[in-house]
Amino acid sequence: MFLPMLKSTAATSLALFASGVHSAPPQTRAALSCSTSSFTNVVTLPGVTVTIQSAVTKSGTYQEAGNLGFPQQIDLLPSLCVVTVKVTNTSDVPTKPQSSYRFGMFLPTAANWNKKIMTVGSASFAGGINWPDMAEPVHYGFATLSTDNGHSSNGSDLSWVTPARLYDWGYRAVHGSVVVGKLLTAHYYGKEPTYSYYSGCSTGGRQGLREIQNDANAFDGALIGAPAWDTVHLMPWISKMAYNRLSNTDGTLGTDQLNLLVDTILAQCDSKDNVTDNVISRPEQCNFDISQIVCSDPTRCLSQAQAQTAMTTWADYTVNGRLASHGFTIGSEDQWPVYFGDTNTLTGFDFSYERLWINNDTSYRWQDYTDQAVLDSEAVNPGQATANRFDISAYRTRGPGKKGGKIMMYHGLADGLIPPKASLQFYNQTMAATGSTLDDMRSWFRFFEVPGMQHCFFTPARFNAPWYFAGSGQATQLRLLPYLGIRPARGDGWSVPNHLNNSSYDALAALVQWVENDKPVDQVIATAFNADFSVNRTRPICPYPQVATHRSGNINDASSWKCV
Ligand SMILES: *[C@@H]1O[C@H](CO)[C@@H](O)[C@H](O)[C@H]1NC(C)=O
Ligand SMILES: *[C@@H]1O[C@H](CO)[C@@H](O)[C@H](O)[C@H]1NC(C)=O
Ligand SMILES: *[C@@H]1O[C@H](CO)[C@@H](O)[C@H](O)[C@H]1NC(C)=O
Ligand SMILES: *[C@@H]1O[C@H](CO)[C@@H](O)[C@H](O)[C@H]1NC(C)=O
Ligand SMILES: *[C@@H]1O[C@H](CO)[C@@H](O)[C@H](O)[C@H]1NC(C)=O
Ligand SMILES: *[C@@H]1O[C@H](CO)[C@@H](O)[C@H](O)[C@H]1NC(C)=O
Ligand SMILES: *[C@@H]1O[C@H](CO)[C@@H](O)[C@H](O)[C@H]1NC(C)=O
Ligand SMILES: *[C@@H]1O[C@H](CO)[C@@H](O)[C@H](O)[C@H]1NC(C)=O
Repeated sequence: MFLPMLKSTAATSLALFASGVHSAPPQTRAALSCSTSSFTNVVTLPGVTVTIQSAVTKSGTYQEAGNLGFPQQIDLLPSLCVVTVKVTNTSDVPTKPQSSYRFGMFLPTAANWNKKIMTVGSASFAGGINWPDMAEPVHYGFATLSTDNGHSSNGSDLSWVTPARLYDWGYRAVHGSVVVGKLLTAHYYGKEPTYSYYSGCSTGGRQGLREIQNDANAFDGALIGAPAWDTVHLMPWISKMAYNRLSNTDGTLGTDQLNLLVDTILAQCDSKDNVTDNVISRPEQCNFDISQIVCSDPTRCLSQAQAQTAMTTWADYTVNGRLASHGFTIGSEDQWPVYFGDTNTLTGFDFSYERLWINNDTSYRWQDYTDQAVLDSEAVNPGQATANRFDISAYRTRGPGKKGGKIMMYHGLADGLIPPKASLQFYNQTMAATGSTLDDMRSWFRFFEVPGMQHCFFTPARFNAPWYFAGSGQATQLRLLPYLGIRPARGDGWSVPNHLNNSSYDALAALVQWVENDKPVDQVIATAFNADFSVNRTRPICPYPQVATHRSGNINDASSWKCV
């Protein structure tokens, strides 16, 4: 059993806090110094080891050696204390193997601390503390944490699997990190955090939803991007696409065919919202007919087999007449090469899941894939990672004296890695399971579709859709990765360039306004930047079922649009 024991006088209130009670602590004191003795002398949590890694000064850097998941150096940090925490938890033994993971914290100086805590999600199958994405919220003043998920690996590596690590990746590492992270934050500052937030995209989105389903008191607000919530169906769908590709090599879509496909789709679908702007805003209204570009001349057409590849990638994947996974949306083709371009069938995403996580059989080959994989995957539900406990009424309504939790979820319609319809499916199923109407949902859970945005960030160059709104991990991409072909000259590393901490442009700042000041998020203005960070275009993203509708004026200016 895991029992926090505190030598400090605030023990009672901290124990209450662990179960999510936001009562004021009986007494507060000055923050501790960024030194190991601050933790070892005062707090004793069984199975918890706290290590001070670094005291970063303003505009300083941090990089963790040996981090396979998130190796990047982060610069332009505010003054903060870098802490890592190793946790082992035996509560589940003997029904499940012992839990063991690390998490990291950025603790801003007391003067810069906004009195709140923020948990940041991971990506893909990565094992490692997500320091880069933790660097975004710390600029707002959050004490920020992220877990390594209990293993060490890059994002496309699934070979670390053991039953213990699966459960840790599935949900245990996030949950325990939030519980212990809140205790340590209160301990460090001598004051309990006032609010707890979450931000994550893709696997990070799944982790946030899974924790909300696990513990209604973990967060007060969550920013959830393109969640990989449906692990048991998403993974076989990825394998099925690879199977289609490998068993139909005549159907391989090369760069030329993909370009032809995207250009033809853009020409036919762009104006379905009555605005010709290179953004496919209403993909569901475009009854794209691929036969117009099927012929035997490969310089201007797709072959029948290539057309078949595209059609099976758009189509829902059904098994025994039941939906396994939604297919991809028209307009997502630019990102298909991420899966299609993987020629190695034994690493990455293709079949590692069936081979290592479901069948546990290293002789498994792509030829062994059948639809049975979906049923097997449902039966195994590795690590209980799938976030399908849709009745989160307890998060919505948290009892007397506590505000209900809020969720802002978003998904790019040009996402070629996780079908955007999976998010709508999640929204629909949560609506049904909580017995809510759409109006009820809008009071606590809003879903924003982002036309032209790919997976979590970016847009195809020929779309140039506004995709930047300080979504989870977006600032990291602006700052760390080549953007529009160049390494950016600047990028503050957080919020929205030119509009720092402005809730009109910044989804996280908007969520904070919703949670703390009951100001619902009616829209967020997304921005497309030029390489020099001048603004190219802006446009609102809208809470479902509303869509951005052009009223009058410059189509590249958000003020010409309304959510309708
Ligand atoms: C961000 O804006 C909020 C609301 O206006 C304010 O309370 C907070 O201090 C600001 N934070 C920073 C870091 O500017
Ligand atoms: C990820 O790690 C695996 C296992 O070590 C390795 O085979 C693979 O090449 C790595 N992938 C990348 C993109 O680094
Ligand atoms: C796979 O099988 C081996 C040998 O039986 C076992 O030790 C291991 O725990 C299994 N792995 C998983 C993920 O179940
Ligand atoms: C330890 O694990 C149990 C069971 O999964 C969980 O309820 C508890 O919150 C965990 N505690 C910590 C501090 O991680
Ligand atoms: C586009 O314009 C036509 C003609 O005015 C109108 O019937 C249609 O509803 C409009 N479509 C959208 C999505 O606004
Ligand atoms: C979600 O529900 C709406 C309204 O019932 C429906 O139109 C839509 O098709 C559903 N979408 C998914 C992906 O379940
Ligand atoms: C945020 O941006 C809006 C729209 O441009 C502007 O009206 C408002 O003054 C800004 N808020 C702050 C606090 O700067
Ligand atoms: C916006 O980007 C497009 C494509 O890169 C470019 O052609 C256009 O000039 C830019 N517009 C502005 C106002 O910067």
